[in-house]
Amino acid sequence: MPIFNPAQIRHFFPALSQTDDNGQPLILFDGPGGTQVTQGVIDAMRDYFIRRNANTHAPFTTSQRTDETMTAAHEAMADFLNAPSPDEIVFGPNMTTLTFALSRALARTWQPGDEVIVSRLDHDANIAPWLALQEQGIVIRWWDFDTADCTLKLDELDGLLNERTRLVAVGGASNAVGTVNPVGEITRRAHEAGALVFVDAVHLAPHFPIDVQAIDCDFLACSVYKFYGPHVGVLWGRYELLDSLPAYKVRPSDPQPPGKWMTGTQNHEGLAGTAAAIDYLAWLGEEYGRDHAPRFPGFSGRRLALKQGMAVIAAYERSLFSYMLDGFEQIPGLTLYGISDRRRLDQRCPTAAIRLPNHSPAELSARLSQHGIATYAGHMYALAVIEHLNLLEKGGVLRVGLSHYNTRDEVDTLLGLLGDL
Ligand SMILES: Cc1ncc(COP(=O)(O)O)c(C=O)c1O
Repeated sequence: MPIFNPAQIRHFFPALSQTDDNGQPLILFDGPGGTQVTQGVIDAMRDYFIRRNANTHAPFTTSQRTDETMTAAHEAMADFLNAPSPDEIVFGPNMTTLTFALSRALARTWQPGDEVIVSRLDHDANIAPWLALQEQGIVIRWWDFDTADCTLKLDELDGLLNERTRLVAVGGASNAVGTVNPVGEITRRAHEAGALVFVDAVHLAPHFPIDVQAIDCDFLACSVYKFYGPHVGVLWGRYELLDSLPAYKVRPSDPQPPGKWMTGTQNHEGLAGTAAAIDYLAWLGEEYGRDHAPRFPGFSGRRLALKQGMAVIAAYERSLFSYMLDGFEQIPGLTLYGISDRRRLDQRCPTAAIRLPNHSPAELSARLSQHGIATYAGHMYALAVIEHLNLLEKGGVLRVGLSHYNTRDEVDTLLGLLGDL
């Protein structure tokens, strides 16, 4: 079994061989904002426009091919999340829009005084849709994280849960500081109190295998553009909930899930690309990940390949992140937010939030960009995280996000530039 090395897969991603306007190679540490796509994804989207472009559910060839494209995307995403059924997969423009649609629908079944728990470790897309329900009398309870290592205070959850709690909205992983939350344990506690659980897995999905049945949550959302596919959002929900909840829909659309949640005409070409992105991850698992198979008993076929593929990504990214941490520790005054203990790296994503003395994050990002390096600076919409760390007035953090296509050489270039500053 070949050992995974990004040199073997970088050529699949045409964007990685670009240069900037000065002819410098691009070094892309902006994966948490969106990753690059494979040639297979580009080909699938191109093929959609050439051979399949139509609206759905008609007897003519292109429409039937569109229906096939959609079915394939639902099946692929169900395999990726280990969802019991492809009918539990809802597609939409992005996670934020889908979450607003879900929060509004849920609120139609709730009463004033009912409560929702949101966490300060979350992206605003998993906070604002719940805060909006305050207009209808829903009470919001805030769950804090420990600023020392940026982990949620698990024991405080029990004090927030009560018989009025309808839902706990929690992130799978923080897009700012990288913390991976124990969503299985959180779900267990929430269910014991009779509350539903919504997991924002947008930042988790690119880095770790996800199994909605093992987590046992009720809803989970992610975005395909964060894991090597096009700009498509995904909402998974338990069938009986998707079926019974009063979704906002047009009258002629399908009364059953997933159609009742998929408002308007979908991004068909994006769904073609989605299936291709999933196929790439499965290929990765077949090619480099068979040794991980014993970790996934009961899985077979593409579902197993996908788990293996994500395990390959997790293992490689962890070693690259550890290498970057070694380098960060050599840079005087550099502060890293979140978990840095090497024994706990499985509790975080390879997403570093850092600051350097005497340079604002925006200035650092601009300077790195002059060398072809892509990073983000500020709050990255994780407004509550940056506020709780008291960094909002100070320009937030510089985010360096590693993906499986990043190399040690790229990290060395970054470390050299940060060291010089
Ligand atoms: C953790 C997290 N949640 C939610 C979102 C919003 O996702 P989308 O752009 O699909 O609405 C993002 C986007 O960066 C994110 O990182």
